[in-house]
Amino acid sequence: MARNKIALIGAGQIGGTLAHLIGLKQLGDVVLFDVMEGVPQGKALDIAESSPVNDFDARFTGTNSYDAIEGADVCIVTAGVPRKPGMSRDDLLNTNYKIMSDVVGKVVKYSPDCILIVVSNPLYAMAQAAYKLSGFPRERVIGMAGVLDSARFRAFIADELKVSVENVTAFVLGGHGDTMVPLSRYSTVAGIPITELIAPDRLAQLVQRTRDGGAEIVKYLKTGSAYYAPSSAATEMAEAILKDKKKILPCAAYLEGEYGIKGLYVGVPCKLGEKGIEQIIQIKLTAEEQAALNKSADAVKELCGVIGV
Ligand code: APR
Repeated sequence: MARNKIALIGAGQIGGTLAHLIGLKQLGDVVLFDVMEGVPQGKALDIAESSPVNDFDARFTGTNSYDAIEGADVCIVTAGVPRKPGMSRDDLLNTNYKIMSDVVGKVVKYSPDCILIVVSNPLYAMAQAAYKLSGFPRERVIGMAGVLDSARFRAFIADELKVSVENVTAFVLGGHGDTMVPLSRYSTVAGIPITELIAPDRLAQLVQRTRDGGAEIVKYLKTGSAYYAPSSAATEMAEAILKDKKKILPCAAYLEGEYGIKGLYVGVPCKLGEKGIEQIIQIKLTAEEQAALNKSADAVKELCGVIGV
């Protein structure tokens, strides 16, 4: 039986880390594509040389030629420019839209049956662009943001309560950034709602830190944005799909009336399996949460309007 094939479009910080994680988890063979000559080849070789030490069997190919991605099961797009200090994700819009247009055309040509995971920012507008440009059904174009934002929230909660991260589940809906909607009442520690364990004022601070999580790291790094946690998040999504786990994860999905929103990518809980998004889970929101989600959708709509998708 052939191994799964995973194509990574963009072999920068996230692309390279993704390749390594996918190898460590033995999810399949990896093709790393980038327009920069030598970078995908060097990273692919370096990771392949780590495989005997870490005991994983997978083929790693670095390439500047799209034909190598032919027949991929999952394509993860990280191509684009990351932000620098002082920039918002939205500042990347026009540059990354041009890159996305080029990338999606090639993905459709060489891997027409793949499931596309979009990581490039601004995430929701890029996911919407990929969906519109690809002509794929909505279940095969998924944006990565919610798993990352939830992971950040979980890390902060675990640190606050000095408990294992494994005890903490958290749900973050909506956009990536200011319009994120962390659902505190659905976030638990060993099954106990965090609202019973953390005082409201302190919880509000953790929520704000989650919203600013990406910017906090950009400020430290100065020359780029976060890549370890984003790579882990995209790997979890790819694993759920490739292993047909039917795992419920917060993802950017194209809504067609769910949560009262139509025709836009918004962060909602999705069941991921071999077909991609197999179900959008609808949970009851309070009026306040629904208003926050609508605000996220409005922000996505505005950005999509600028690039006409
Ligand atoms: N086709 C393929 N790759 C491209 C293209 C293109 N048209 N244009 C740029 N790239 C590549 C760059 O050469 C670079 O190697 O995309 C890679 C991006 O890598 P980094 O600059 O290291 O950025 P990274 O930190 O990986 O983030 C990638 O994900 O989280 C988002 O905001 C982030 O949009 C950014 C993206």
